[in-house]
Amino acid sequence: MSNLPKERLRVGFVGSGFIAQFHLKSMVGVRNVDVVGVYSRKAENRAHFSAMVTELGLGACKSHETLESLLRDESVDAIWILSPNYTRLDTMRTIHAEVKAGRSRVFAVACEKPLARTIAEAREMLRLAQDAGLNHGYLENQVFSTPVLRGKEIVWRRAASTTGRPYLARAAEEHSGPHEAWFWQGDKQGGGVLSDMMCHSVEVARHLLTEPGAPRKSLRVKSVNGTVANLKWTRPHYADQLKQRYGSGVDYRNHPSEDFARATVSLEDEEGNELMIEATTSWAYVGAGLRIQLELLGPEYAMEFNSLDTGLKIFMSRAVTGSEGEDLVEKQNAEQGLMPVLEDEAGIYGYTDENRHMTECFRKGETPLETFEDGLAVVEILMGLYRSAEIGETVRFPAPELEDYVPVVARHIS
Ligand SMILES: NC(=O)c1ccc[n+]([C@@H]2O[C@H](COP(=O)([O-])OP(=O)(O)OC[C@H]3O[C@@H](n4cnc5c(N)ncnc54)[C@H](OP(=O)(O)O)[C@@H]3O)[C@@H](O)[C@H]2O)c1
Repeated sequence: MSNLPKERLRVGFVGSGFIAQFHLKSMVGVRNVDVVGVYSRKAENRAHFSAMVTELGLGACKSHETLESLLRDESVDAIWILSPNYTRLDTMRTIHAEVKAGRSRVFAVACEKPLARTIAEAREMLRLAQDAGLNHGYLENQVFSTPVLRGKEIVWRRAASTTGRPYLARAAEEHSGPHEAWFWQGDKQGGGVLSDMMCHSVEVARHLLTEPGAPRKSLRVKSVNGTVANLKWTRPHYADQLKQRYGSGVDYRNHPSEDFARATVSLEDEEGNELMIEATTSWAYVGAGLRIQLELLGPEYAMEFNSLDTGLKIFMSRAVTGSEGEDLVEKQNAEQGLMPVLEDEAGIYGYTDENRHMTECFRKGETPLETFEDGLAVVEILMGLYRSAEIGETVRFPAPELEDYVPVVARHIS
């Protein structure tokens, strides 16, 4: 695009579900952006989403019956891809075709995590974006979470600069299980919790270990070692619970995907120093709600963050009754007792700064901090971890055999 910077970025959403609504709420804290269109399959979902845009004062959002109609609307500059993982590539193919044929003026695209289900798919996502001349951003919110922004800045400025770079990053993300059937279906989602949540942990850990301003290639992945397990949801009682909740398409007695994953990623910096990422994720954690734990350790310092260790806590006695909700914290499991409350979830999880960053980069024609290339690099690590878990061995990088690798639980991807 030669006529950049634009004063405002006009965004069209693909998807109107859980994460689309989270992004919307966060955009109240972003300047220079309007939400001008939405496409998802069901009219009632689009109508609900458009009404939210109006209520939040984020623009006049038109509901589009087809993706092509959204893309051909001349008021749309950029697309946020927020639909399920199995719809990614088709969505990107349509964007590519419309832009290449000159039917769409879209010049930028942002895509939710994980970029794709396999390396082959992720590579194709990147190729399509590049071939259509699109600026591209990978939506990894944890990189933009306020404790990560602040913690990384302080660690590197005060401690690493005087005593040496950090060498170990630990990341964990756990909750009690996803909210829609497709997440539990290995072929649709791309795997189980390793694909769904380890993508966050490895990328935020890599980001914390990377010197501010240095490119991704300043750290080289040497090897990965992964473990996957089924701790909770294959137990007959819980497998039946899943089937009741999500229908016969989620059959954890016969076709489970993992609900626990552990990773060790060994890296090297440009001077040959050894660095380590330790990550663990699960869908088998029943605490107050979603728990993100992060640590960054160096020779004379340590940073730590726990998303449930909130400053704000509210106690409710057993006399307090009411409906179940997620109004205190994401993936909330209780409404009584001493409950942690995240007073600004969109900010602390990173959506506000993420959307501010992507809006500003796209508006000005600059390359975002996280691009589809980063999304591809994350998928490479995830596939290495799945392969490692499958063969029971460490996988050394580069690993060309991963190019056409599909995790065991996703092998019926068509
Ligand atoms: N960053 C994070 O922490 C985070 C958290 C949650 C999810 N995510 C990611 O965000 C994506 C969506 O997850 P979600 O939780 O929002 O899922 P969700 O609640 O199931 O919502 C999916 C949305 O996509 C729409 N959709 C389904 N098929 C579509 C298609 N072919 N074309 C266009 N829209 C379609 C659905 O609406 P219709 O039925 O009307 O089509 C729905 O609005 C996933 O990739 C997930 O990994 C990221």
